[in-house]
Amino acid sequence: MKYDVKDIGLSKTGAGRIRWADKDMPVLASIRERFAREQPLDGVRMSACLHVTAETANLARTLKAGGADLVLCASNPLSTQDDVAAGLVEEYGIPVFSVRGEDKDTYYSHIQSALAHKPNVTMDDGADLVTSILTENTDLAPNIIASMEETTTGVIRLRAMEKDGVLKFPVFAVNDAHTKHLFDNRYGTGQSVVEGILRATGILLAGKSVVVAGYGMCGKGVTRRMQGMGAHVIVTETNPLRALEAAMDGFQVMTMDRAAERGDLFVTVTGDVDVLRGRHFEKMKDGAYICNAGHFNVEINIEELSELAEDIVRGVQKEVDEYRMESGRSLFLLGEGRLINLAAAEGHPSDVMDMSFATQALTTEYAVKNKDDLQHRVYSVPEDVDRWVARVKLDSMGVEIDTLTERQIKYLQSWQEGT
Ligand SMILES: NC(=O)c1ccc[n+]([C@@H]2O[C@H](COP(=O)([O-])OP(=O)(O)OC[C@H]3O[C@@H](n4cnc5c(N)ncnc54)[C@H](O)[C@@H]3O)[C@@H](O)[C@H]2O)c1
Repeated sequence: MKYDVKDIGLSKTGAGRIRWADKDMPVLASIRERFAREQPLDGVRMSACLHVTAETANLARTLKAGGADLVLCASNPLSTQDDVAAGLVEEYGIPVFSVRGEDKDTYYSHIQSALAHKPNVTMDDGADLVTSILTENTDLAPNIIASMEETTTGVIRLRAMEKDGVLKFPVFAVNDAHTKHLFDNRYGTGQSVVEGILRATGILLAGKSVVVAGYGMCGKGVTRRMQGMGAHVIVTETNPLRALEAAMDGFQVMTMDRAAERGDLFVTVTGDVDVLRGRHFEKMKDGAYICNAGHFNVEINIEELSELAEDIVRGVQKEVDEYRMESGRSLFLLGEGRLINLAAAEGHPSDVMDMSFATQALTTEYAVKNKDDLQHRVYSVPEDVDRWVARVKLDSMGVEIDTLTERQIKYLQSWQEGT
């Protein structure tokens, strides 16, 4: 079996962590049991480009249990857990191509290794596999049944491909399922971003002014958790509706030009480029911390930050670089501007990834089952999948809910009854 991991000797620790995560992923475990019996992915060749974490390992085990022949590569150079990668190879027989801290060339060569598997189904977190197939590996496109997409930024790229008429196979916007973005993006990102910042810096958040750029699903999570830690939270937005929502949720909303002067800590989570750039760095206080939680490391313009700096001290702490400005101020960049929750912590808690990856597994099954009826477009996750995952998650939490009576069903479907 071909693979490329940092140290295969780490496999025992990795396997232990995979099992530890699995205990908080009951929905995915129940799918794995059924998949093992029914083999819905029998004969399917899969390439997945995801953050190589313990939770992803449990998704990979589930797909393999369902009959898929799967290989895995990383969707970010800094998000791989090397012991988990080794554990997947050694203990579960799943080839992995990813090493934490790999350079850009290695990152893309690992994507090529995953595509050399000649997949029928791909799974992405940021659309890198799909983009590679549509640009460099066009011979693979005719054999693709479908592709799954995990994150907002990936879905935006896929919709742009659909608009430009370049999509060559069906894709599913798994990110847009309720059981994904309402929970993973909000509660998962909210908690793990705070964790990443604290692990990198250990700073006291209470009383700090924390600027969060972007009030989407992730931004809503980050702001709430920061508020819970006692921070004064400032939101910047470009969308008037989202800005209004933030203001009425009780946050201060202002432009980044104004927020730049006030913030002690900055978190970008927009999916956009240049959210923090030269003019903002020029205004920031001495000692300000800067980090990103959006998918790509383009939200903070590191080039402009470097140009403004007189000196850069790498690794003043693990995942912290100091940029010394001519004015004598220091700005601290965390996690090289990559997703802070994965660069400095282990990403989302297993409990929330349980739902995202249950939705991934079931959508893959749906795509394979319905392959003859799918067009070259971006599909939503079937509503049944969302409802099933939510129900089973509630069951696992011991939460019971009410059932509509016959009269209520009739009332909710009719228009005749009024005051
Ligand atoms: N860190 C993680 O683990 C994690 C998890 C899920 C998603 N993501 C990524 O986080 C990013 C945000 O995801 P989301 O689901 O919240 O997206 P979203 O589309 O719901 O929200 C993004 C918000 O950012 C705002 N925005 C855009 N440009 C801006 C700018 N220049 N300044 C201020 N605000 C701006 C938009 O108006 C929007 O309200 C994406 O890149 C997504 O892929 C990261």
